Amino acid sequence: MSKSNSIVVFGSANVDLVVRCARLPRPGETVTGSGHQLLPGGKGANQALAARRAGGDVSFCGAVGRDAFADTALANLIEAGVGLDGLHRIDAPTGLASICVDASGENAIAISPGANAAAALARDMTADDLLVTQNEVPAAAVGEAHRRAKAAGARVVHNAAPAAPLSADQMQLIDDLIVNELEFAEIARAFDSAPDPTPEGLLALAKATETRIVVTLGPAGARAALGGVLLDVPARAIKPLDTTGAGDAFVGAYAAALAAGGDDEAALSFAVAAGTLACLALGAQSSSPTAAEIEAHLSGA
Ligand code: RIB
Repeated sequence: MSKSNSIVVFGSANVDLVVRCARLPRPGETVTGSGHQLLPGGKGANQALAARRAGGDVSFCGAVGRDAFADTALANLIEAGVGLDGLHRIDAPTGLASICVDASGENAIAISPGANAAAALARDMTADDLLVTQNEVPAAAVGEAHRRAKAAGARVVHNAAPAAPLSADQMQLIDDLIVNELEFAEIARAFDSAPDPTPEGLLALAKATETRIVVTLGPAGARAALGGVLLDVPARAIKPLDTTGAGDAFVGAYAAALAAGGDDEAALSFAVAAGTLACLALGAQSSSPTAAEIEAHLSGA
């Protein structure tokens, strides 16, 4: 597989309406929060920003509206220097996520896709590109992006979030699949494989799908089956303030490390550190760490 230098993230951009509350509401219940903020979000935009802050040369493809929310959604990408040539502004509302974050940093999220529902990969791919995708834009557009990337010889990193099954044909177009435990179970079911990412379960699914698979394990770090090799990378213990976007920081940092030519174990450690640091501030993007911050964390600072 050739080394990729340029990262293309195709995915969603949202505004996140974040309410902090002592605990998450149950169905039919109203809880009173202690404050709210309108912040940039969306898994695609979060991952693009994370990859950029982690040192990548990054462009973002997606769709936002012509409304004021679009400015909020794009503010951090513009400030960080993420390329936006592949971004479309269309006649639809910018995507919105309604997020409650509880005292332990856990969240509950409902999204309204808005413009994301019309997103398509609006740029040519080359063999030097590394494409990063997720499941918050239409599955057909993601599949088409994978086909075009593979036809061009690019590497494909797919984060199957939110959870959705993947067919064997779709898996063939993915080089690196990144999932959490729930998403792992969803995909394993379709391949009659064990639902838990135990070492045996993970190696079995990676073999059955012929795909490199990385499973994020929250505070426990990450486990990966990469080319038949099992890797376990623990995370340092922290007190999380908000776990929103931690998975996105992981994916962005992993992509940045691969694009820089890092080996698998170093890329995983870098990604675990990024995901950990991303839990230390409110919002999906505010705490997305820089390469220097990740390196400092890894060296014990
Ligand atoms: O992964 C976190 C993201 O999920 C939030 O930023 C929200 O927009 C939803 O897309």
